[in-house]
Amino acid sequence: MRIGIPRETLEDQPLVAATPDTVRKLRKLGYDVAVERGAGERASYLDAAYADAGAEIVGEEVWQSDIVTTLDTPPREMRERMLAGAVLISRMAPGRNPELIDELKEHRLTALAMDAVPRISRAQSMDVLSSMANIAGYRAVIEAASNFGRLFTGQVTAAGKVPPANVYVIGAGVAGLAAIGTANSMGAIVKATDLRPEAAEQVESMGAEFVPIEAKTEKSEDGYAKEMTADQAKAAAQLYSRQSAEADIVITTANIPGRKAPVLLTAADVQNMKPGSVIVDMAAANGGNCELTRPGEVYQTENGVTIVGHTDLAGRLPGQASQLYGQNIVNLMKLVTPQKNGVMMLDFEDTIVRGITVTFAHDGQADVLWPPPPVKVSAAPAPAPEAAPAPAEAPEAKKSHAGTIAAIIGGILGVALVLASPFQVAEQYMVLMLAIVVGYYVITSVTHSLHTPLMSETNAISGIILVGAILQVGSANIAVAILSFIAIVIASINIFGGFTVTHRMLSMFSREG
Ligand code: NAI
Repeated sequence: MRIGIPRETLEDQPLVAATPDTVRKLRKLGYDVAVERGAGERASYLDAAYADAGAEIVGEEVWQSDIVTTLDTPPREMRERMLAGAVLISRMAPGRNPELIDELKEHRLTALAMDAVPRISRAQSMDVLSSMANIAGYRAVIEAASNFGRLFTGQVTAAGKVPPANVYVIGAGVAGLAAIGTANSMGAIVKATDLRPEAAEQVESMGAEFVPIEAKTEKSEDGYAKEMTADQAKAAAQLYSRQSAEADIVITTANIPGRKAPVLLTAADVQNMKPGSVIVDMAAANGGNCELTRPGEVYQTENGVTIVGHTDLAGRLPGQASQLYGQNIVNLMKLVTPQKNGVMMLDFEDTIVRGITVTFAHDGQADVLWPPPPVKVSAAPAPAPEAAPAPAEAPEAKKSHAGTIAAIIGGILGVALVLASPFQVAEQYMVLMLAIVVGYYVITSVTHSLHTPLMSETNAISGIILVGAILQVGSANIAVAILSFIAIVIASINIFGGFTVTHRMLSMFSREG
């Protein structure tokens, strides 16, 4: 089959749906690729580079390909040029465009909406909303820095101390986390708030402080936030007011799918901010999170606050954004081309394929498959099992009693063991007991981001156990020999398993080919 990459029809869309690199990958999956002349120019990808990658450079016949892939839904006159039964892959916002769905059906096209990829782990590599939000979050910080008249990082210079900038991020989804990471790496002090309590751990793992909304919030079932209750809205408004008055930079990314962006910063909040501070409103295209945002504009308020309302943050890094979008398409094509033979196969049993299919053309007609069945996901830990009914005392007290009893029994056993053993062995038991206590406290305090180095360390410890066990396995005492053998087996599993897991993790970061 032939995949066509047209030049984007919107004048202000600098991205392209494939780069020379992704063309090469599509060709490896067995597809022919046709690129419209000049399609990648605005993202600095020239026709010659596409030709080198094996693409055919064509004119408007690009629309007569079996599969056409674009960033934005092409206008009706372009769609009408497509072959009946062909496949259109692009961002479509099908939930907001019922008339588009009717037209796709009428034109007998199979339509796959890249902006409808479900938020499940397996689909992350195809999630174009995340790819674009990630780039936009990075760019939001760059825009903030270029409009802020001071350094981001704190410094001690011969001329005096420079304080670090205070950055406050509202909404810690994909864009928010990217902004947190970027601001943090530039040396700012970063705080963030999100409606979803499960975002706290992610915020902290990016090196920022999570500032919670002091009202009951519920975990998300689909990775997106729900509308706030009146209590939450009141508590949130007070928090945003307080935090924005203290911050130098406020980056707002709050978004609720299918709704207009919630207004989080009022004109009064902006009035209370320091002169020279900057607001980057990432939700500008969707109405804005700040009451004073002017979509597409950057301006300064009377009290000296700069409000950045760019709606094309990802488009301001067109080379990188096109590469990520193109790679998302390649990952989708890998999923739907299991034989790598250049033939697309749509398996509707697959949650991702079903989730993105808006219309399906077959036998000279097309069926509407939108909306797909809901997919439930959450970054939050699973809820704890229900507590036993009507306890005689508080569950915490019971738990701590059980803990105390276990500790007393353990202690008595430990002391008995020490007293009953010859002196040298007793000393070793004591070291073992202390090691267990210290180990317990150290390991339970290790932060999430250090789990991988911790795993490597446990590998090293298993190495020591392995050496000890090999030395003892030939012992005349049968109990010692059996214990040593068991230790050899378990330590070997730990070492080899650890290396296998590490190897798999590292290979996720290596480039293909
Ligand atoms: P997302 O859905 O992953 O994250 C939004 C976050 O906001 C969620 O974590 C949600 O829990 C949180 N949230 C919602 N209401 C809130 C409230 N009242 N207070 C605190 N947190 C709240 O969305 P994503 O992908 O990170 O995008 C964020 C925004 O950036 C969206 O508005 C999106 O349209 C915009 N965007 C803008 C671009 C541009 O060029 N300007 C490019 C890409 C995304």
